[in-house]
Amino acid sequence: MGAVEVTKLVKRFGRVTAVDGIDLASRDGEFLVLLGPSGCGKTTLLRMIAGLEEPTSGEVIIGGRNVTTLPPRVRNIAMVFQSYALYPQMTVFKNIAFPLRALRMQRDIIREKVEWAAGMFKIDQLLERKPRELSGGERQRVALARAMVREPTVFLLDEPLSNLDAKLRTAAREELKHLQKRIGITMLYVTHDQVEAMGLGDRIVVMNKGSIRQVGTPQEIYHKPNDSFVATFVGSPPMNLLEMGDVLVGFRPECFRPAETIDTPEAMEELQFTVSWVEDLGSDRLIYGNLGSDYGDQHAVAKLAFNVTTPVEVGKRYPFAVLKKDVNVFDRKTGLRTEKRVSLSG
Ligand SMILES: Nc1ncnc2c1ncn2[C@@H]1O[C@H](COP(=O)(O)OP(=O)(O)O)[C@@H](O)[C@H]1O
Ligand SMILES: [Mg+2]
Repeated sequence: MGAVEVTKLVKRFGRVTAVDGIDLASRDGEFLVLLGPSGCGKTTLLRMIAGLEEPTSGEVIIGGRNVTTLPPRVRNIAMVFQSYALYPQMTVFKNIAFPLRALRMQRDIIREKVEWAAGMFKIDQLLERKPRELSGGERQRVALARAMVREPTVFLLDEPLSNLDAKLRTAAREELKHLQKRIGITMLYVTHDQVEAMGLGDRIVVMNKGSIRQVGTPQEIYHKPNDSFVATFVGSPPMNLLEMGDVLVGFRPECFRPAETIDTPEAMEELQFTVSWVEDLGSDRLIYGNLGSDYGDQHAVAKLAFNVTTPVEVGKRYPFAVLKKDVNVFDRKTGLRTEKRVSLSG
């Protein structure tokens, strides 16, 4: 039983409200990603779940047990931080064994458990090395194995891959996802990187300024954002948002394309698009431009896959279009998604 639930959780540091009344429930065995910009309260939330930070108010429930006032060691959780530290003078074996020795476990049981954890992270051939003899990725895996060796029911990870270079990070991400599914542990994973969040999460919790903006699958977060914050925080380049009266009309760059490439003209909205800049990224072309005076000269960006070969020249005006089903409408005041329909082509 590793489900985590928090209710009405608040944390204030003096006049700063880091976590502003969060209700959240993970499912047992779920990979739940907490995503949000720096300073939005992700680490504080995780530390309260771990028992490292006392909530100002609210409750933390792990595996059905209210642990709000209980110390970290009885919560049966493990936590790995971005700035994890291995003991440099100890071998990998001793690093992983450390939490078990602290519990005064028997020698042969310790060996068994260390080998199990090391095997899980494929570092069993490195057990006699010292941390300085390891690559960044290997060190990371030792830190994960050390956290895992006590067989926690919940694993809390705070940006654990941000010290790795891009290539290693992708590999570590894949490993972590496989591992989590294999052992069926509940993982709460904090990141500010939306690509990482989309790749890892069964569900994603998008946070801003101490509050939750949306909880959903990567698909839901991407295609049906609850508000204009989620719409622009997730996706790169971000969703186009046009101010039109009392609403914001949003559509993703990859949904905005030359009208001639759409074979269901009855389902589209057409806009005149004057191109100001083209970036060729190899896999895609990013076309930046202006929608003209009818739209208050608002800017937009289109993302065309490399195999959309329609010529596009800077300074020229083209009919571009977006399918009606790909148009999102948000209330301009609250930023919240509305089901109000708005015609883009006027
Ligand atoms: N120990 C602390 N004392 C005072 N303010 C803090 C402390 N920890 C965090 N904060 C503040 O709380 C807010 C949330 O921080 P944090 O949880 O670290 O955000 P994140 O992990 O999303 O970047 C920030 O404004 C931060 O400055
Ligand atoms: Mg943080």
